[in-house]
Formats: sequence, C-alpha cells, structure tokens
Amino acid sequence: MSLKLIVLVAILLTILPTIHAFTSRTSLSLRPRQVASSTSNERPRSYKAYYFEQLIDHFPDSDRYAPHTNATFSQKFFFDDTYYKPGGPVFLYIGGETSAESRWSNLQTGIIQILMNATNGLGVILENRYYGTSYPYNASTTDELRFLTNEQTIADNAYFAQNIQFPNITGGQDLTASATPWILYGGSLAGAETAFSLVEYEGLLWGGIASSAVIHATHGYPEWYNPIQKFGPQDCIWRINKIIDKMDQLVEENNEPAIQKLKELFGLGALEDIRDFAYTIAFPIGGPDSYPTNTWQELNWVPAYDAPDFFQFCNNVTDDSAPTDITDVDRALSEYTHGEPWTGLGGYAKYVKDVVVSQCPSEDLINTSACFSTQNASNWAEPKNSGGRSYTYSSCTESGAYQVANYPNKPSLISRVIQLDYTQQWCNWAFPPGPLAPQAAPSPNGPNLKRYNKYGGLEISARRLAFIDGESDVWRDVCFHSHNATERYGPNQMLITGAGHHWDSYGILNVDAEPDFIKAAHQWEIRRVETWLKEWELEDRRKVTTIN
Ligand SMILES: *[C@@H]1O[C@H](CO)[C@@H](O)[C@H](O)[C@H]1NC(C)=O
Ligand SMILES: *[C@@H]1O[C@H](CO)[C@@H](O)[C@H](O)[C@H]1NC(C)=O
Ligand SMILES: *[C@@H]1O[C@H](CO)[C@@H](O)[C@H](O)[C@H]1NC(C)=O
Ligand SMILES: *[C@@H]1O[C@H](CO)[C@@H](O)[C@H](O)[C@H]1NC(C)=O
Ligand SMILES: *[C@@H]1O[C@H](CO)[C@@H](O)[C@H](O)[C@H]1NC(C)=O
Ligand SMILES: *[C@@H]1O[C@H](CO)[C@@H](O)[C@H](O)[C@H]1NC(C)=O
Ligand SMILES: *[C@@H]1O[C@H](CO)[C@@H](O)[C@H](O)[C@H]1NC(C)=O
Ligand SMILES: *[C@@H]1O[C@H](CO)[C@@H](O)[C@H](O)[C@H]1NC(C)=O
Repeated sequence: MSLKLIVLVAILLTILPTIHAFTSRTSLSLRPRQVASSTSNERPRSYKAYYFEQLIDHFPDSDRYAPHTNATFSQKFFFDDTYYKPGGPVFLYIGGETSAESRWSNLQTGIIQILMNATNGLGVILENRYYGTSYPYNASTTDELRFLTNEQTIADNAYFAQNIQFPNITGGQDLTASATPWILYGGSLAGAETAFSLVEYEGLLWGGIASSAVIHATHGYPEWYNPIQKFGPQDCIWRINKIIDKMDQLVEENNEPAIQKLKELFGLGALEDIRDFAYTIAFPIGGPDSYPTNTWQELNWVPAYDAPDFFQFCNNVTDDSAPTDITDVDRALSEYTHGEPWTGLGGYAKYVKDVVVSQCPSEDLINTSACFSTQNASNWAEPKNSGGRSYTYSSCTESGAYQVANYPNKPSLISRVIQLDYTQQWCNWAFPPGPLAPQAAPSPNGPNLKRYNKYGGLEISARRLAFIDGESDVWRDVCFHSHNATERYGPNQMLITGAGHHWDSYGILNVDAEPDFIKAAHQWEIRRVETWLKEWELEDRRKVTTIN
C-alpha cells in the first residue's frame, strides 16, 4: 500500500508528531539550530542533531545475528539543556518507531519539559535504530534488517547511557549512567522498550516511566477495536456493526453480484480482493497495520494535536438529514437482506469516497499498489529504507498484534474477512529469506512472540519502573492495565480516566491549567521521579563507578 498519506498505524502511528513524520509536512520545520537558552516559558523551536557511534551488533555470540559485524552506525540524538543544572538527572526519551525530530515536542512542551523543569534535568531524545536517519545500512533487505530486534534496540540504550559525552554542557562533564541517575521515558513501542531496558539493565539505568507501553506480544489483536466499540457514539457504532454483519452475510452466501454492488457504492468497484475492500473501508476506524487518515488513536486532549476525524466520520454515518441521494443508498442493497435497509450505509460510503478514495489519483489505479490493492508481492519486497518497513518487520518477527475482526459472536467494526492470514501474507512477501541470514526472515506461522514476552509480558516489573496507561486507548489490552493482566495496585502505576494513547506525553507549558486527570498524572510522574532521585542520593550512587 503506498498512498502518499499513509500513516502507519499501529503502535506506530499514534501521536500527531508521528503522523507528521509520514506526511509531506515533515520537511517544513526540521532545520536544525543550536539549542537556544531560554527563560520562563520560551522554549527552543528546534534542536541541533548530534550523532553517536553505535554498535550495530551487541551480541557477537548469538546465532540470531550471524553473520556478525563489528561495524558501527551513526545514531542521531538531540538534547535540551535549557533547565539543566549540575547534579540534575538525565531523562532519556526513547525514540521508538519514528524519527527523533518528530519527538521534539516532548522536550519543548511535553513530559520531558515537565520533568526537566521539576528537577533541573537534561532531556535527550535517542533515535531508534532503523528509523529517521539512524539506519545501519542504506537499504533494508531481510538480511540487513537482522539487527532490528528489541534486544539490540534496548542494548543501544544501555551502551549510549554508558558512553555518551554530551558536548558543551556546563557542569556536565560526566553524565554517563554510572555517575548520574538516568530516567527513561517512552510511549507506545518506546514505552515497551523503556520497560524492557529497565528489566535488562536494572543496575545501570536508574528509573523509567513506560507510557501506554505495549509490553505484551500477541498474534491477533481484535481488542484494538474494543475501546471504540465501547466508548464511541453508540448509534454510529451500532450502525457500523449492522452494516458489517450484512456485508459478512453476503460474503458467506458468496453473493458476487451483491458484493460488487456494495464495492461500487464506495467507489471501489475495481478493487478485486474482498479483504482489500474491507481494509479500505475500515480506514476511518483503523485498518490493520496502516491507514491514511486519522482514527480514534489520533484523538488528543491538546487541541493543537487533536485530530477529531473519527467523530466527523460518525457524524456522517448518523446524518439522517443528509440529501436523499445519500440516504437512499441505505436501501440500495435491501433486496439482498430481506428488505432490511443498511442504515447509515449512504453516509459511510460517501465519507469513504470523499476522504479516502479521493486520495487515489486515478480510477485505473484503484486495484494497484499505488492505491488500495495490497496484493502486489513485489511492492512489499522493495527494500527501500522506511519507518513503515521497519515497523512492519518488527511486527512480523516479534511483536505481532495484527488487527483482526472481533471474536465470533461479538459485534465487529471491521469485516470478518480480516483475519491473521491477511497481515501474514504481507510479512511473507515483504521479508523473504536472504542469502546471508535466512534466520532473519519472519516465520510464515507468525511472529516469535517469546522474544518479546521474555521480559515478563503483562507481568513485567522492575525496581523504579512505573506504568501509565489510558483507559480508552486502543492498545490498552497489550499494556500493563490490560483487562487480561492480574489486578495489581501500587504507587508505580496509573490509569488515566478517559485517556488515549500516551496522552501524558503531551503538555501545554502549564500543568496547573491542564484537565484534572492529566494534571494528576503529571503530578504523579513528577513525584515518582522525585522519589527515585531521593533514593539515588540515599544510595550514594556517585561512588559507584562500574556496573556488573
Ligand atoms: C570483531 O572484533 C573481534 C576483536 O577484535 C574479533 O575477534 C572478531 O572476529 C571481529 N568480528 C568480526 C565479525 O569481524
Ligand atoms: C550502500 O552502502 C554500501 C556499503 O556501505 C555502498 O557500497 C553503496 O554504494 C551504498 N549504496 C548507495 C545507493 O548509497
Ligand atoms: C561547543 O561550543 C563551541 C563554542 O560555542 C562551538 O564552537 C562548538 O561547535 C560546540 N561544539 C559542539 C559539538 O556543539
Ligand atoms: C462528514 O465528514 C466531513 C469530512 O470530514 C465533514 O467535513 C462533515 O462535517 C461531516 N458531516 C457531518 C454531517 O458532520
Ligand atoms: C487486481 O490486482 C491483483 C493484484 O495485483 C491482480 O491479481 C488482479 O488480477 C487485479 N484484478 C483486476 C480485475 O485487475
Ligand atoms: C507492483 O509493484 C511493483 C514494484 O513496486 C510495481 O513496479 C508495479 O507497478 C506494481 N503493480 C501493480 C499492479 O500494482
Ligand atoms: C486475553 O485473554 C483471552 C483468554 O485467554 C485470550 O483469548 C486473548 O487473546 C487475550 N488477549 C490479549 C490481547 O492477549
Ligand atoms: C516550572 O515549574 C515551576 C514550579 O517548580 C512552575 O511554577 C512553572 O510553571 C513551571 N514552568 C513550566 C514552563 O512548566
């Protein structure tokens, strides 16, 4: 799929700055500038890029990474010392599945700004290997992707914390993790990497806040849709459920003429594979792996980052006062459903035509990989470096969570033709075994979940590791506060009422003016960090020089 505006969904595409990273808007604001010293609320508008010589292969003895290499790559990082005072901690913001630039807002106005201000800390963003410009190789064949694993990524964090020399910071001569408390923060995949880092490098890294951390790998993830099913406007949700039921009934009956008519109502008559059709009409809700428009996941409490498309979509589905050429469509397929209308279908189809199908430059391209067909194997196999490709590789090999239709006998927001095989074929096409490292190819049976869950899965824990989640986040069920996790209570956990995906990472340079539940979350995060810094003083870590 290669529509210009595709936003990788998954864990990936969540925050608006991330979305920007995948659209043409990105290039507008990225000219690096030296960090500006700032007073009061004046914040740097951009940051100068620095590069760290990072090992490509941290595990020279592991068969998993053969053939090995001693080479390094340039890993990009940014830092903000506008609040730094000697003795302050280092906050390492984990880059995750996007460029480091698209994380700047966390230093400027978000959670790292809040924590730096509270503790005189230094804020650092480290770009994830295989994202942004931090690629070890100039292409991403399956062989070249073999070093893109979570254990290598978290080893980057540890190696960086042990060896980095920050340039030009007054009083910051040795800010490595043996002399200074390092507190990690990450949201989404980066949240999981934060948690895994704390588990694996507990003696080195002092603390961590894992936000909406997707700590649990699972093959299929129908639960992604549960918060939308539960918290979305129920008249809209119910209409979509019923439309999907009717569509699936036609598929079950193998009613080709009716299915063709249905596709045409959406302007997708040429799209051959019924799963591609189901995928395309699911975009306003959230299609598997990637989607070109904003969804529930892109809702945000900060107006500047909020993308309320989902509610506009629902307003179309429920708009009974739309012109009759739209509402009449509700009855266009009634003859196939015992005279029953498909209530809301006209508004649904019109919305998809206007907002999604209109992005395809020509009708002749509807059934190609330039627009809505995902069935072109050679297109998937293109080894060009991209964040989307890297993310898909990680999903295919380790983390899974393929979005699929709901469990049988439950209402579904996407057609039941969307099952594991649909995403799995992309994995098989995209990453065929290479000549050097055939072990790096994903298994056709699905990701190796053990490699991801070995840090503890939903039961993961470490000293000074805190978890914060959003109650109505689509990723919640693979996070600490999953409905599948054992019930736990304690000071290092927080579930924000009504919140979405790592909503605590955003800020407005005034904690007191935030909505109550966000403010409470930020105050809790400040207290967590202050508590951990007191523990550092008590344990007199400055005397420790080596880590075993
Ligand atoms: C990496 O360096 C070590 C130490 O010099 C050496 O033993 C090893 O063979 C090198 N590995 C590769 C893949 O070149
Ligand atoms: C990619 O990298 C290799 C080795 O580092 C180099 O020989 C080759 O010219 C590069 N290709 C491009 C297109 O930059
Ligand atoms: C450090 O500061 C000096 C003087 O301002 C400047 O010339 C130099 O480029 C800076 N070094 C880095 C790595 O930013
Ligand atoms: C339908 O969606 C469009 C595009 O987002 C939006 O501009 C419009 O307001 C929506 N219609 C209704 C009735 O809300
Ligand atoms: C649609 O695209 C698929 C995948 O490229 C192809 O196999 C199929 O023949 C195409 N169908 C039509 C009607 O063009
Ligand atoms: C399939 O993908 C290849 C490689 O990206 C591209 O050249 C070709 O045009 C695509 N064909 C269709 C029908 O999408
Ligand atoms: C939650 O547990 C149920 C029952 O064991 C299981 O079927 C489901 O896949 C689990 N969900 C996730 C997201 O792991
Ligand atoms: C910084 O923290 C102080 C309290 O320590 C607070 O009064 C001030 O509003 C904060 N400023 C910003 C920009 O967050």
